[in-house]
Amino acid sequence: MQKLIIDGGLPLNGETVIQTAKNAALPIIAACILTDEPVTIENCPHLNDIDAMLNIMRHLGCTAEFFGDNLTVCCRDVALNVINSDLTGKLRSSIFILGSILSRCRRAYISHPGGCEIGLRPIDLHISGLKGLSVKIVDDCGVICCDGTDMKSGVINLDFASVGATENLMMAGALLDGETVIVNAAREPEIVDLAEFINAMGGDVRGAGGSVISIRGVKKLHGSAYTPMPDRICAGTVLAAVNATGGSVTVKNVVPDHIFGITERLKKAGARLSVRGNAVRITADARPRPIHKLETNVYPAFPTDMQPQFCAMLARASGSSVIVENLFENRFGYTSELVKMGASITVKDRIAVVNGVSSLHGATLKACDLRGGAALVIAALAAEGRSVVYGVEHIDRGYECIERTFAELGGAIHRAEV
Ligand code: EPU
Repeated sequence: MQKLIIDGGLPLNGETVIQTAKNAALPIIAACILTDEPVTIENCPHLNDIDAMLNIMRHLGCTAEFFGDNLTVCCRDVALNVINSDLTGKLRSSIFILGSILSRCRRAYISHPGGCEIGLRPIDLHISGLKGLSVKIVDDCGVICCDGTDMKSGVINLDFASVGATENLMMAGALLDGETVIVNAAREPEIVDLAEFINAMGGDVRGAGGSVISIRGVKKLHGSAYTPMPDRICAGTVLAAVNATGGSVTVKNVVPDHIFGITERLKKAGARLSVRGNAVRITADARPRPIHKLETNVYPAFPTDMQPQFCAMLARASGSSVIVENLFENRFGYTSELVKMGASITVKDRIAVVNGVSSLHGATLKACDLRGGAALVIAALAAEGRSVVYGVEHIDRGYECIERTFAELGGAIHRAEV
């Protein structure tokens, strides 16, 4: 067990290079099952969630090995082992693997991934989508048993533009005869990245990034080398931190279009931003300004995965902000930790009212989920005095060595054993 020790109050300055995206790399790893040839995922981030996904892949008989930052996955010998709850419990997005196993093997057995700290996270859209491709699915004491022997391509209309369900169905359709069409597909950049990866393996996916995606099944996919997209949430996390602490930082390896919803809100919160190619520079020299109403929604709206980090930033804004969380029913859990630092936040259901205070003070804090943990780090960097953040394993699920990123920018932050 580890903790982060943060002496706050220092501005952040310099430049940082953003890691590749966890939420792109995870479905890409799952999609490796679609081919029996080796795949190299270049510059794959080293994260707890990636390790959890690789453990599932190994359990299924695949090999997965890092050579430096490049991950090589080979799924020549896929075994139809039941993916037990000890594996799915570590990674809610383990359900993304169903589509690729079914496409390749026409059967799959996986324990229900269950809910997590941020919400119940049902999988009904994944299940109904796969049933729409004629997969027979029964729940046998918590194990989802899928029989895809009669699987057929078809048109799937998603009731909600779920990221994971869209990705699952794209993978499911990749090796099916005929055309699978997903209507009301999610439009997140990670969907486009997955489509590009499947196409790099010889697939035929069109329309990703729009709300109708067409997947024409091919007989076989081949190995490939692929670099996932930059992590837009890690970029946003650094930008929000700079607006909270003050300073001037250039964030490199970003796709500015991907973070438009974030940078526009940072401007509202008083930051100055400029874009040059794949780099964004932020300068903040005053207390953040409040944001009248900050509402999360599906891409291209403001992402739910940035809501906690913005809340931490707005905790010391020069006025009151209202945050509305539309995606996950329980994503304000971290706010009670911010209150320990002197923040004034009241939460009712999916709405948080944040009355900015002039300064936060250090405290002993516990991260209970990934983005909530990042919010605590931001608040601690901006606070006066020392904070200790426990539950670092949650932060390590999505940020590659978060303390190194902020220490290189001048933050007084280090990791220690508990
Ligand atoms: N939903 C259902 N039924 C389903 C699927 C989803 O009701 O079958 C609901 C969820 O409960 C949630 C909403 O739909 O309320 C959005 O879920 P979605 O399926 O779009 O999310 P996801 O695929 O489970 C991915 C990211 C999340 C990110 C969301 C939304 C990955 C691995 N995870 O999850 O990332 O918050 O999209 O953008 O891609 C994170 O990185 O911290 C994280 C939680």
